[in-house]
Amino acid sequence: MTTKEERVQLLKVTRYNLFKIPAEDILIDLLTDSGTAAMSDKQWAGIMRGDESYAGSRSFYRFEQKVREITGFRHIIPTHQGRAAERILFEILSQKGKHIPSNTHFDTTRANIEYHGGHAVDLVISEGKNTQSLHPFKGNMDLDKLERLINEVGPENIPLCLLTVTNNSGGGQPVSMKNIKNTKEIVGRYDIPLFLDACRFAENAYFIKKREPGYSEIPLKKIAQEMFSHADGCTMSAKKDALVNIGGFLAINDDDFAVQARNVLIVTEGFSTYGGLAGRDLEAIAQGLDEVLHEDYMAYRIRTIEYMGEKLDRIGIPFLKPPGGHAIYLDAKTFASHIPAHQFPGQAIACALYTEGGVRSCEIGGIMFGKTDPRTGEYILPKMELVRLAFPRRVYTQSHFDYVLEVIEEVFKNRECLKGFRFVYEAPYLRHFTAEYEVV
Ligand code: F0G
Repeated sequence: MTTKEERVQLLKVTRYNLFKIPAEDILIDLLTDSGTAAMSDKQWAGIMRGDESYAGSRSFYRFEQKVREITGFRHIIPTHQGRAAERILFEILSQKGKHIPSNTHFDTTRANIEYHGGHAVDLVISEGKNTQSLHPFKGNMDLDKLERLINEVGPENIPLCLLTVTNNSGGGQPVSMKNIKNTKEIVGRYDIPLFLDACRFAENAYFIKKREPGYSEIPLKKIAQEMFSHADGCTMSAKKDALVNIGGFLAINDDDFAVQARNVLIVTEGFSTYGGLAGRDLEAIAQGLDEVLHEDYMAYRIRTIEYMGEKLDRIGIPFLKPPGGHAIYLDAKTFASHIPAHQFPGQAIACALYTEGGVRSCEIGGIMFGKTDPRTGEYILPKMELVRLAFPRRVYTQSHFDYVLEVIEEVFKNRECLKGFRFVYEAPYLRHFTAEYEVV
């Protein structure tokens, strides 16, 4: 617990970058759902049983078997987290000038593509960019746009297509099984492989079960297996739906690609049976992948976010609807409509939530996804300006969330006092992590 005066001071000292505030000084931390899960007794038991052999450890084989059981992919390559899998994937496939379509690329995915000279192209359906549309699968790929892109740039310039499940940057919205299947059908015609960015595959599977005709009686695991069966590979941050604090993997069917990927892995991450992780981490991932597909766990998980949405609706606070799988996204453009987009209304709200109640959230808008034109110095801004309140898995209780609601309500009541921000420092890649700001 900190006082309001202390929080005002902390924000000044850190130049209004919430990533720079020590966690000690945060009361409820909704910055991310990544690596913040509480591990279960069985996962901790796995940590104690970890086999730390350099090569071919028992823990690796348990991990490999579990990932293969769910994804069905032939080659399972452990990495220390999601972006390490992305780096290997794009180092091999994304040369200069290539286009990589996705429903929406996450920030690290986009950065890894651009770092290797490629173009990250977002092709989510138009409903996915409208915060008030109630489409059940707002994460779907726009298939017409996908086909148009293939014809425009030529299939030889598209080394892969990526579907992010659920669509984090677009509000944690799911992709339907039909859309996964249709996307594969289109890219398959041109021999373009389909990959899933599978961080939140289990949450996506749950939405399919609840919302897509024909799936209500099918076990979650079976739905997940079907999702992967339409893809040629996946990247995974185990820090989300494997319920662990660190870990990830790259999984693929193609034998030649696997040889190349393992070579890059050995140079940059570690030997192919640990890939930057300890044996105990692999045990915890294997166990977490089992637990995340328990129907009761997922009912609790998704219901928590729904509950927040219902309460926000009752108070009249604008947010992206319907609530997503891992977070609530406040609609900052409507919430703080007096702040122009180039002064980052999302950042203003995120700082105010911290000042008001010690709640840490994350701007997902002009700062994270906007760009500064190097020639004119002008900001190119994304369509949606959001503040994400991401929910760590198995960590907070209903009373914590009720407190968060009170804090949001208080900030909303006084929204006219919110002020915009301008950069005093920004890095060329992933600027939100290190940027510094001043109040306009
Ligand atoms: N893909 C998606 C969709 C993600 O949400 C993330 C991470 C990654 C890839 C990269 O994984 O962090 O293990 O390297 N998202 C976190 C977040 C950081 O807060 O949403 P990583």
